[in-house]
Amino acid sequence: MKITITEAGQHVGEEVTIGAWLANKRSSGKIAFLQLRDGTGFIQGVVVKSEVGEEVFQQAKSITQESSLYITGTVQEDNRSPFGYELSVSSIDIIAEAEDYPITPKEHGTEFLMDHRHLWLRSRRQHAVMKVRNEIIRATYEFFNDRGFVKVDPPILTGSAPEGTSELFHTRYFDEDAYLSQSGQLYMEAAAMALGKVFSFGPTFRAEKSKTRRHLIEFWMIEPEMAFYNFEDNLKVQEEYVSHVVQSVLANCRLELGRLDRDTSKLEQIKVPFPRITYDEAIEFLHKQGFDDIKWGDDFGAPHETAIAENYDKPVFITHYPTAIKPFYMQPDPNREEVVLCADLIAPEGYGEIIGGSERIHDRQLLEERIKEHKLDEEAYKWYAELRKYGSVPHSGFGLGLERTVAWISGVEHVRETIPFPRLLNRLYP
Ligand code: 4AD
Ligand code: MG
Repeated sequence: MKITITEAGQHVGEEVTIGAWLANKRSSGKIAFLQLRDGTGFIQGVVVKSEVGEEVFQQAKSITQESSLYITGTVQEDNRSPFGYELSVSSIDIIAEAEDYPITPKEHGTEFLMDHRHLWLRSRRQHAVMKVRNEIIRATYEFFNDRGFVKVDPPILTGSAPEGTSELFHTRYFDEDAYLSQSGQLYMEAAAMALGKVFSFGPTFRAEKSKTRRHLIEFWMIEPEMAFYNFEDNLKVQEEYVSHVVQSVLANCRLELGRLDRDTSKLEQIKVPFPRITYDEAIEFLHKQGFDDIKWGDDFGAPHETAIAENYDKPVFITHYPTAIKPFYMQPDPNREEVVLCADLIAPEGYGEIIGGSERIHDRQLLEERIKEHKLDEEAYKWYAELRKYGSVPHSGFGLGLERTVAWISGVEHVRETIPFPRLLNRLYP
């Protein structure tokens, strides 16, 4: 019977065939250990010379790394491996032999691995990160579907820019100028007025010349938007959502977190409610910590965020940023015009901002003023302003950066390992 590696537990004692690749092997004169992978998982195949005979044993010893094969054997329980099972091999049928696979079990430099990303994805570590990423996506759909949100897909080719124009990818759209979307938010606001509670999940693009462990040029964002939700309601969804995602990964990716050596005790603590501090309190705290470089009105850099996050075991909301350093659409605090009803969520352990969100301006006149102040093209934003003309309501939303969230939950240092084919400054290959 043909099975996948993850199904092995249901076939203990049975003879099965698995389509697999050889990840690694070691052998002595009498026994060979084949590390097999089939995409679903990893299992060790044990080939004992006295059981299979000389011919099969020699065949096993000579298989090259990453050759593909059908391998037949009996599934055995194995308490020493984290997976719990191994395959007692009886025969091997080679499909295609691999020649000189470039990624060997020895250490390789990052640039070399990045040049071979199409193959590097096969490694145990990358496999684990991609599985965690997938679980986060699955748990995202589960969370929002269970709460009556509708998935809406905003366009990628756009004529307007929610987050400011400095980092847009420009392209031609026949005879017009167009930009690759840096956020679907403005469209999600229109969708929320049509469908109430909506969320999107799609690629976004930022032509930032940043070369840090937190920046990608192309990254994926989850953007919920909710009609009749105020600032407070917005924060509640965010903390419930992030807790749900972390607890889902803990429940469903035990093997993967183990393979990544993730300290799961840190993740166990990620439960609602999350701590909150205001921007003012954050500035005061930073001054006490000796950050003399920052003054009220400045945006935080990575070292500031890290210093703030270090005080907490959970993600922390920094709320009420100065109006001047935030995008045009954010609702001012009614008691204090110089700050907005927004929050950034900062992950623990130095992973930085994973969510940016706010209540949106719903007053038509104020929005039109802001569009002018920010010198935005009024024609391009006409439809967005019109949402305030026909039954405007208070509404709020946020954007969670998937790759930064994968990095944090997996405990992976750099976002380049959290997306299958990272687009970085100076990297478009493979
Ligand atoms: O804070 P940002 O720019 O917010 C927005 O785009 C809003 N329009 C979202 C909304 O309210 N619907 O981006 C949101 C998140 C950040 O917190 C971060 O996690 C991620 O997107 N992000 C990046 N991730 C990787 N590489 C980059 N260059 C990123 N820029 C932002
Ligand atoms: Mg932000």
